[in-house]
Amino acid sequence: MQTARSHCAAASQHLLDVDSLGAEGIFQLLDVAERYKKADAAGERFVNELAGSTVTNLFYEASTRTRISFQIAARKLGADVVNIAPAGSSITKGESLVDTVRTLEALGTDAIVIRHSEAGAPYLVARHFRGSVVNAGDGLHAHPTQALLDLLTVREAMGRLDDIRVAIVGDILHSRVARSTGIGLLLCGADVIFCGPRTLLPMAGWLSLLPGSGSASQTTSLEDAVDGANVVMSLRIQRERMSGGLIPSLKEFTASYGLDATRLADIAPQAWLMHPGPVNEGVELAPDTIVSEQSLIARQVENSVYVRMAVLSELIGGRN
Ligand code: NCD
Repeated sequence: MQTARSHCAAASQHLLDVDSLGAEGIFQLLDVAERYKKADAAGERFVNELAGSTVTNLFYEASTRTRISFQIAARKLGADVVNIAPAGSSITKGESLVDTVRTLEALGTDAIVIRHSEAGAPYLVARHFRGSVVNAGDGLHAHPTQALLDLLTVREAMGRLDDIRVAIVGDILHSRVARSTGIGLLLCGADVIFCGPRTLLPMAGWLSLLPGSGSASQTTSLEDAVDGANVVMSLRIQRERMSGGLIPSLKEFTASYGLDATRLADIAPQAWLMHPGPVNEGVELAPDTIVSEQSLIARQVENSVYVRMAVLSELIGGRN
């Protein structure tokens, strides 16, 4: 049986951000994910690929989609999965992150999938752990597997990643998804326009620091952002990361940047709609948009499993 895995060199030991993958590494992982998706649909099973390996989900922040899809991905590959949440672990007794990592290593875990509210935490873990580390979201910084699943979903819908225009709309400032998916798209040649209220956009200088061959710009006008866009990606207002009142009210944000199916069909009739979830229903998206014909939101969740299978098989399988 031919496996979907190709032993590409894309994701060496760890996957901490998309920047270090570059376009070539991204395309390799997307191709592996696509092969897993096709093989899964054809009824193939992959339980021998990571049999005997252990993947530990170490989530210091809330998560539904990411944690569960890593779990499903690891199980489909035959790995054992351990889920650790701060409540109920020695983390509540003051055990440091490095101690936790040493313990997990001694217990024989092969990969740590970590989500943490501090940017950089996965890099610290990678310095103290001999196995593989996957960043499942660190503070405001990065969320590489979300970027990969977004890119896979866009490529499926559009047939390509270059020569397209993607509008990313909402709380850009606090979004690791905006940063990682934006960078991933730019590296693959897409043009990205970031859009939100002025207080939720980074200082314009950040645009010139972004890598890739696509062009990056930002605007406060939703109409300008979605004009000619092939994809509109809406983002959640990250109230838990805001220290002050950066928007006058949610109602005002919804009036300027919220989308319902009618407004979407009116200002961006040709565009696909995406959102990483969880959606604040009635704030950035009305419930009718989530299931509208333009929506790829369910596809993003479906693709998340195959992208995470690709990442885990490359990192752990590639090493074994
Ligand atoms: C995102 C995250 O946690 O960064 N969600 C996710 O991974 N599906 C986006 C968010 O929390 O708004």
